[in-house]
Amino acid sequence: MFIVVGVTGGIAAYKTVHLVRLLVKEGHEVHVVPTDDAVRFVGLPTWEAISRHPVTTSVHDDVARVRHVALGQQADLVIVAPATANTLAKMAAGLADDLLGTTLLATTAPVVAAPAMHTEMWRHPATQANIATLRDRGVVMVGPADGELTGGDSGPGRMSEPEAIVAAALQAVDAAPAVTDAASSPGDLAGLRVVVSAGGTREPIDPVRYLGNRSSGRQGVAVALAAADRGAEVTLVAAHVDDGVLGEPATHRRVTIVRAGTAADLASAVTRAASAADVVVMAAAVADYRVAEVSAHKLSKDRSAEPGLTLELVETDDILAGLVRARRDGQTVVGFAAETPTAAETAAERGRRKAIRKGADLLAVNEVGWEKGFETDENALLLLDREGRTVGEAHGTKRETAEALWDAVRGIHSS
Ligand code: CTP
Repeated sequence: MFIVVGVTGGIAAYKTVHLVRLLVKEGHEVHVVPTDDAVRFVGLPTWEAISRHPVTTSVHDDVARVRHVALGQQADLVIVAPATANTLAKMAAGLADDLLGTTLLATTAPVVAAPAMHTEMWRHPATQANIATLRDRGVVMVGPADGELTGGDSGPGRMSEPEAIVAAALQAVDAAPAVTDAASSPGDLAGLRVVVSAGGTREPIDPVRYLGNRSSGRQGVAVALAAADRGAEVTLVAAHVDDGVLGEPATHRRVTIVRAGTAADLASAVTRAASAADVVVMAAAVADYRVAEVSAHKLSKDRSAEPGLTLELVETDDILAGLVRARRDGQTVVGFAAETPTAAETAAERGRRKAIRKGADLLAVNEVGWEKGFETDENALLLLDREGRTVGEAHGTKRETAEALWDAVRGIHSS
C-alpha cells in the first residue's frame, strides 16, 4: 500500500519512527509528511532514512509534481501520529497551510489519527468538538491511551503504541468501501504502456521434443492483470503457460496477448513491444541454452550403435540484459530471479548479486525449489533495486505479490 504518515509537533513523534519502520518492514511504500513543529522533535534525515523516500514539510518543494495534492491522491491510507490538539483543530476546520494539510484535503483514502496531548487539552470542549467532527467525517481515532505524560502528569493523552496504530489503520483500510472499481476508476497506472513476459520457453530438440521448465505462467499473468486493472495498457508476451492461465487476460480490454514459443521468439516479441513501453517486466522463465542443431526428424534410438545421447547446447541471448542496454530515459526494466539456496548462499544473497550484475531497475527474487514457487498460487518475492537494496517484500497469492511489485515499480518509475 501507498501510506502517508503525517507527523505533528509532539514528543511522541519519536514513537512514530518505530511506526514507520513497522509499515516499511511489512512492504508498504511509506511517505512521511511532518509539520514544521514535528521536525523540532525528529529531523528530516531520520524520516528520510527510515521511510527511504525524500521528506519535506513544504508545499513549495517539488511543485512540478504537484506534490501538495499528489501524495493525498496516491495514498491508500493516511495516518496522523501523533495528532496534536492544534492539528486536530486544523483538520476539523479544513485548513491547508502546509503539506500535511493539503495532503489531507486531497485524499479520499481512510484517515487514521492518533491523538497525543495533555489531559486538559484532550478534555477541552474545543478538542472534543473537533474529534466529534472528524469522527463524523469518517476519521478513525486510535487512543489516546491513559498513562504517564511528559512533565510527570498522567491521564488520557498518551499516544497509542505504534503496533496498535498499525493494527487499527489496516483494519480501517479493510473496512473502507472499495474505491478501486477497475471499470470506473482510472487507476494509478493509467497512461502507462507495459510489457510483461510470462511462462516458460520451449527449445526444440526435434519435431516432438523440447527442453522446457516448470513455469506455469501464473506469476507473470498476475503481474499483467494487476497492471491492467490499475489502468495500464498491457502487452502480455506469453510463452508456454498452464491450461486456463490465459483465460482472464484474453478477455481483459487492456491486455493484448502475443504468443512466443522459444527464447528467440520471446526475444523478438519483447524487444519489439519494449520500444514503445514505459515499463517492461521479464517474468518469463527463459531457457539459458538451446540445442545447437535441431533435428529435422524425430531422433531415434537406433540412429547409431553408440549407447546414450549427447546434445550440444548453445547459450540463448539474455533478453533482460539487452533491455537494460537499450533502456530509454524514463523507461523502467524489471527482472525476475528464480533462485534455489545453496549451502554457501541464501536465495536472497544470490538475488542481491544478480541484481547488481543484471542492472535492472528492480529485481523480484523468487525462492524456488522442488516444492516451492511452481504450480501453486502462493509466492514470496523479495524486491531489490539496482544496488541490491531491499525496496519491498511480499508474501501471499501471486496476485498479491504482483500488486506489491507494481507498488515498488510506481515508486521507482515516478522518482
Ligand atoms: N532472462 C532473459 N533471457 C535469458 C535468461 C533469463 O531475459 N536468456 C531473464 C529472466 O526473464 C529473468 C532474469 O533474466 O527476468 C533472470 O533469470 P534467471 O534465470 O534467474 O537468471 P540467469 O540470467 O539465467 O542467471 P543464472 O542462470 O546464472 O541464475
